[in-house]
Amino acid sequence: MVEVLVLYYSRTGRTEALAKAIVEGVESVEGASAKVKRVDYATVNDFISCDAVAFGSPNYFSYMAGVMKDFFDKALSMRERVAGKPSVAFTSGGGSSNSALLSLERMISSFRLEKVADGVVSQGEPSEENLRACKKLGETLAKRALERAEVPKD
Ligand SMILES: Cc1cc2nc3c(=O)[nH]c(=O)nc-3n(C[C@H](O)[C@H](O)[C@H](O)COP(=O)(O)O)c2cc1C
Repeated sequence: MVEVLVLYYSRTGRTEALAKAIVEGVESVEGASAKVKRVDYATVNDFISCDAVAFGSPNYFSYMAGVMKDFFDKALSMRERVAGKPSVAFTSGGGSSNSALLSLERMISSFRLEKVADGVVSQGEPSEENLRACKKLGETLAKRALERAEVPKD
């Protein structure tokens, strides 16, 4: 069984709705389970112990939410322990800018995680299409985590 961490922040529920769609996609894959956590209740240990991770944040001033950035700051010293984990990102904004997504994807790169697919940018209330895209993202992430778990480590 692989565990996919869905780590997100949300104040007014939009990013949370996207996170739930990611969870649905993860759990549609046999052998994968999702652990969903709002980032202010998560620990660096959640990051270390998972097999893959999806990061979700609202767009705040063209960047990820501060609480999400703070999580990455705290995790920096554990960078070696999370390197290589499959990862994706998703964001919600009042506008259509992909700047918050890019900020999360830069973290994926800084932590040397494996970006497995382009992320989702949702504008306003998540549409059916946004939710479908997140579900697909969760499914793709879980499949990659399973593949990686099957390769013996030396
Ligand atoms: C402090 C703050 C800053 C924001 N800055 C932006 C921004 O720069 N660009 C944008 O498109 N939306 C911005 N928004 C709007 C939110 O990103 C948007 O309402 C989002 O869907 C909220 O997600 P949530 O429901 O998960 O909290 C901002 C909202 C807040 C509260």
